[in-house]
Amino acid sequence: MRPAGELSGSVTLQGAKNSALKLMAATLLAEGEHVLRNVPRITDVEIMSELLTSMGVDVRRAPDGALLLTQPGLGACIPEAPYELVERMRASIVVLGPLLARFGRARVALPGGDNFGSRPIDMHLRGLEALGATFDFAHGVIEARADLLMGAHIVLDFPSVGATENLLMAAVLAKGTTIIDNAAREPEIADLAAFLNQMGATVEGAGTSTVTVEGVDRLGAAEHEVIPDRIEAATYLAAVGVAGGEIIIAGARPDHMDMLIHKLGSMGLRVAEVSEGVWANRAGRRLTAVDVATLPYPGVATDYKPLLVAMLSVAEGVGVVTENVFASSRYAYVAELQRMGADITLAEHHAVVRGVAHLSGAPVKAPDIRAGAALVVAGLVAEGETVVSGAHHLDRGYEDMAAKLVGVGADVRRV
Ligand code: EPU
Repeated sequence: MRPAGELSGSVTLQGAKNSALKLMAATLLAEGEHVLRNVPRITDVEIMSELLTSMGVDVRRAPDGALLLTQPGLGACIPEAPYELVERMRASIVVLGPLLARFGRARVALPGGDNFGSRPIDMHLRGLEALGATFDFAHGVIEARADLLMGAHIVLDFPSVGATENLLMAAVLAKGTTIIDNAAREPEIADLAAFLNQMGATVEGAGTSTVTVEGVDRLGAAEHEVIPDRIEAATYLAAVGVAGGEIIIAGARPDHMDMLIHKLGSMGLRVAEVSEGVWANRAGRRLTAVDVATLPYPGVATDYKPLLVAMLSVAEGVGVVTENVFASSRYAYVAELQRMGADITLAEHHAVVRGVAHLSGAPVKAPDIRAGAALVVAGLVAEGETVVSGAHHLDRGYEDMAAKLVGVGADVRRV
């Protein structure tokens, strides 16, 4: 990519990756044909489709684009998640809760580390144990069993997104009442609960810290539309933040991005709700630096952080960025931004970003999805040409990012 001046026009959001993957897993809870609309065409969805197919589920796209997932009867489904697929996508662990709830057993390969460090699943397992599951570990595989799941009061040590989702999907078919305290509050949790309720579950409080589930005996197939991807929205907000101009992000839900919009406002990016979604405009010469700390929702998401670091790299002043969600600090992309001339000092989970007037284009490498997006954003204003390798990371989470950026006037090409 090369700088191409200010952005203008409109970009339409895809469905949220981090919701779609969990909704797909949730279909394991009931026999029949489920219909999910607005599921993005991205690699992670393909991996989840492969995983479900390997279990005996029929997954295909309808002519209108909806994803149809047909769950066979109990006898025809194999409740196993093999290593080859779990290793390609750690989020595969969210099949554990629904498999235990519907089949009373599951074999799931243990996820390993990834480019931003090991991500433990102790909270998932402790919560499922409280519901009555037992686990054996051998040869890198979790053997899970639960003759009967029983409702329980679970307090999470930390509002983990994945643990909240796994427990929610196990609790809907457990006997009695489950209360999940210190639950994650991300919009994707409320989306999952809405789908589960559509299937016949009784979930209350999703989106708050206390989620209450009244177990039911059985669930049925359902239809649901995935919420828009707020991280993708943030990517285009960052793009207009660095390049300037005025764009509409169609489908964006500003109520899912309150804290981010507030931060961006302090940096000089004007963001407002419009009937199509969100309007954003940077009229000033450069963004202004601010300090940012990531936190569980409704705080600034850790997935926005690389985008914010890219914006701060070319802002006026100094911003201190603090990672509070992941123990490993997720700053692998900083060395790449430094190659482009960014002035960033790292100290444990902090990054001190001193804005520079100009970045310079360079070959850089995307270490993961969000970091890759941040490098693309930086490339939009780096003098000369920037080549981001490792673009397969982008495909895991973004449906045709290059084309969408071209649509708002950027000079980006996928090679
Ligand atoms: N954690 C534990 N034990 C657990 C579970 C989590 O210690 O049993 C820790 C993690 O190590 C981490 C923190 O708790 O330090 C938060 O992890 P969480 O479980 O909330 O994250 P996740 O469910 O694994 C999802 C998203 C991530 C996003 C995080 C945080 C999906 C598929 N992934 O991961 O998104 O960064 O929540 O918001 O929903 C991405 O989209 O690129 C991505 C990585």
